[in-house]
Amino acid sequence: MSIQSLGYIGVSSTDLAQWQQFACSVLGLEDVTARLSDPAGAHYYKMDDHPYRLMVEQGETDKLLLCGWETNNQAGLHAVADALSQAGVKFEWASHELAKQRRVTELLRFTDPSGTQHEVFWGVISDFRHLNSPVGVGGFITGEQGMGHVVIPTADFDATAQFFVQVLGFGLSDLMNITFTNDPNEPVKRLWFLHCNSRHHSLGLFEMPMPAGCVHLMLEVPDVDQVGLCNDRRIAAGVKLTGTLGRHANDHMVSFYMRSPAGFDIEYGAEGRTISDWSQYAVFESTAASFWGHDFSVGHQD
Ligand SMILES: [Fe+2]
Repeated sequence: MSIQSLGYIGVSSTDLAQWQQFACSVLGLEDVTARLSDPAGAHYYKMDDHPYRLMVEQGETDKLLLCGWETNNQAGLHAVADALSQAGVKFEWASHELAKQRRVTELLRFTDPSGTQHEVFWGVISDFRHLNSPVGVGGFITGEQGMGHVVIPTADFDATAQFFVQVLGFGLSDLMNITFTNDPNEPVKRLWFLHCNSRHHSLGLFEMPMPAGCVHLMLEVPDVDQVGLCNDRRIAAGVKLTGTLGRHANDHMVSFYMRSPAGFDIEYGAEGRTISDWSQYAVFESTAASFWGHDFSVGHQD
């Protein structure tokens, strides 16, 4: 497939200072806003040798703004453009100015069938400076696996899942069918996990609308100690815990969840599994999210 990984995430924020505090002091990202000097005033945060992975724009609402997907080269991006054209999906080529501001060589933009905005690009423009985390995070698991994974809500699950699998070429990793109560009349919500590289999933699609435009964004660190240290920083910063420590049954990630200033969650984890040969992998349905832990009821407590 042409899309190789989750390249960056854009967020709309009513309070850039709150995001700065959260991104730097809790997540351990490096604020590179001054270095990237955006005339529109967006803030940028670095995780690795990409110039940035998280962009936060001033906006009237707190929500996910867009997902940025990386292709390996110009042919990869143009294959995505061809696939969108053949499927009758409207997209636009970004201006030279916008591509330059995103720090990529070429960029196209489209909206998926549920209304989430996406960008696809090739040719990251980087000075390859290493991460200089303000709280001493040594690094994140990125590279070929991209910046992590993102789970987005869907207003039209069938059309959105079909779009990502059949048009963009994502593969299904596993799925869940979720109800929150014992009420037999509660509609079942589908949750699909999709891959585009060796990371178990880079994209999740959840059959439920959510105002923040995102269920969660996952960032992965190299070891569980870094997960625990982040949880210590979360407590010190007074950030709400939304899922206790646990190990997921699908990607084996040991992680916890917390509420970001955008209203969606950040999953912070380690030990996620990778799949080197998807042809040897069997898709499954999970009836439990985790082997242990991950009590999400804490997110509904005051
Ligand atoms: Fe996750």
